[in-house]
Amino acid sequence: MDNEQFRDWSRRAADWGADYRAGLRDRPVRPVITPGEIFRSIEASPPEDAEPMEKIFADFEDKIVPGMTHWQHPRFFAYFPANAAPVSVVAEYLVSAMAAQCMLWQTSPAATELETRIVDWMRQALGLPEGFSGAIQDSASSATLNAVLTMRERTLDWQGNKKGLAGQGRLRIYSSDQVHTSIDRAIWVSGIGEDNLVRIPVSGRFRAMDTAALEAAIIADRKAGLLPAGIIACVGGTSTGGTDDIAAVADVARRHGLYLHVDAAWAGSAMICPEYRHFWTGVEGADSIVFNPHKWLGAQFDCSIQFLRDPESHVRTLAIKPDYLRTHGHDGIINYSEWSVPLGRRFRALKLWFLLRAHGLENLRTIIRNHVAWSEGLAARLARETDFEIVSEPMLSLFSFRHKAAPSADADEHNLRLVNAINDDGRIYLTQTRVDGHVAIRFQVGQFEATAQDVDTAFDVICECARSLVA
Ligand SMILES: Cc1ncc(COP(=O)(O)O)c(C=O)c1O
Repeated sequence: MDNEQFRDWSRRAADWGADYRAGLRDRPVRPVITPGEIFRSIEASPPEDAEPMEKIFADFEDKIVPGMTHWQHPRFFAYFPANAAPVSVVAEYLVSAMAAQCMLWQTSPAATELETRIVDWMRQALGLPEGFSGAIQDSASSATLNAVLTMRERTLDWQGNKKGLAGQGRLRIYSSDQVHTSIDRAIWVSGIGEDNLVRIPVSGRFRAMDTAALEAAIIADRKAGLLPAGIIACVGGTSTGGTDDIAAVADVARRHGLYLHVDAAWAGSAMICPEYRHFWTGVEGADSIVFNPHKWLGAQFDCSIQFLRDPESHVRTLAIKPDYLRTHGHDGIINYSEWSVPLGRRFRALKLWFLLRAHGLENLRTIIRNHVAWSEGLAARLARETDFEIVSEPMLSLFSFRHKAAPSADADEHNLRLVNAINDDGRIYLTQTRVDGHVAIRFQVGQFEATAQDVDTAFDVICECARSLVA
């Protein structure tokens, strides 16, 4: 592709992107296809000769787009959102065009310095105290892995990286069962082992860790000669928005000298609104906090900020300085590759810079406040219908519900069939979870293009599908 063709196809792609987004409302949110259909439609072997871009682009439109689940669809109510505000997509295009490796200050000074500035903008936007710094990671999973590795190395006096874990004491990490599976993975990958992830019982509306039980578990483990290393708390768990009492957990962490990581991957975006910050009161006592602007804040995937109260132990855990990476910058430069597991880094700060400037915090707050209000409104409407029950009350914009099955039917099976029926209908998309062992249907409002009418449509679709199943 020469430069003129690059210009032409970039314009065509831009036109396509704008048309795609404008037409989303008319598409089903989830494609109606059978597994393997798309795989079989792609040639089994790579081409030996160059193909014309017209044909490649036509195949993209004919074979790929119909098989996509449309995450930017205004009636996407499944999982958590992955908003890509158009302005952040524009920034990503520029980043792709420059295609810089941002591992060291020297390899991309502007990317490094903008990242430092933007992490601090986000710190202020979320109401975190001065002193927190951080980095933009690819995902919350990576940030949590970094935190768990830091817990491990701090506790082993940095001998784990050097000598391995054989012969070391048995490390213990504490969390509730409401945390995301990325916590389990971090425990596996760090070599700590699933048996050493101690699940603390939860209670209350937000399924918060029982901090007395947490403290008792730490004390019992120490007595038994085990090595408590850290605590992972959550604000807005994936299933039903489970949220720990961060101040109480931070207190336990401080008393026992443990590292505290807070996973607010989804709910963190809502903390730009001061009225929701009570959900993480005490968060300034955390050592590490992760939140994903790529979920609810509108930054094109991937974009996950890990705030650190003191980056020293984090960098000491992760930094490798072989000769070929040593640079001779000015004192005080940051090489962000030392803040994450992968060496190579994308330029992720640009899209946040564009996003925050083009929207302004106040407009972003309005979007999030609307989502919360519409979700609460839908939960209240469903609660008034006698054949529905609310399983978990709204935590910000997430709640779960169940439809009452006919007396002869299995309630779990009925609700699974209902999720499938709703998604096959195509007008909306949502997902299920299990609460106390039983199927519940999750509903979250978070898509930037969603309107109050879209949420009304969701009410209609849910009621229609549920009642036609029973009929
Ligand atoms: C609470 C929570 N933590 C972590 C994650 C993992 O996020 P990522 O895909 O950025 O690794 C998710 C994903 O939905 C989540 O809901």
